[in-house]
Amino acid sequence: MFYDNDIKEVLFTEEQLKGKMAELGASITKDYAGKDLLLVSILKGSVIVMADLMREVDLPAQIDFMNVSSYGAGTETKGSVKILKDLDVDIKGKDVLIVEDILDSGVTLHNLIGMLEQRQPASIEICTLFSKPARRKVEVEAKYIGYEIPDAFIVGYGLDYAEKYRNLPYVGVLKEEVYGG
Ligand code: IMP
Ligand code: MG
Repeated sequence: MFYDNDIKEVLFTEEQLKGKMAELGASITKDYAGKDLLLVSILKGSVIVMADLMREVDLPAQIDFMNVSSYGAGTETKGSVKILKDLDVDIKGKDVLIVEDILDSGVTLHNLIGMLEQRQPASIEICTLFSKPARRKVEVEAKYIGYEIPDAFIVGYGLDYAEKYRNLPYVGVLKEEVYGG
């Protein structure tokens, strides 16, 4: 791939990510048996996680998509999130599992959870492929975390830099000169 020229180091290979999705999917399958599971993918970063994870969940789950943006830094009140694309499904009484690519400051998910709780789901939890605990500004509890990683900017498998590199099948770190322009 020509994209590979921009990558300094591969952190997680396609095979590793596939294995992780199977692991997360098995846990979700066990925990949500008999429940009314709705998987909610947050656009755009989690589309690949969603596509791969949902095929590892052996339950009659529903899926939906949402796109949000947070208002600024971590000082905002809970529930302060701008909806760019809302859910189609009414989540009242459903067991909602938010599917995310990465939990960074936590501001987006903190605000989103606060807003979705007002719609009275039976439960609401988070599954994130990556988490950077060192970057957290607000507390967010994720029920499922694929990998905890140090504070480095990663791309691929849905994660972008300036809207590019989402379609890399693995996760890696960009070379410094790519940021330099
Ligand atoms: P936060 O948790 O509210 O800070 O927002 C997390 C969002 O920031 C993710 O959904 C990504 O869109 C973006 N993000 C955070 N860290 C990275 C990274 O290392 N690579 C690419 N996107 C990132
Ligand atoms: Mg994102």
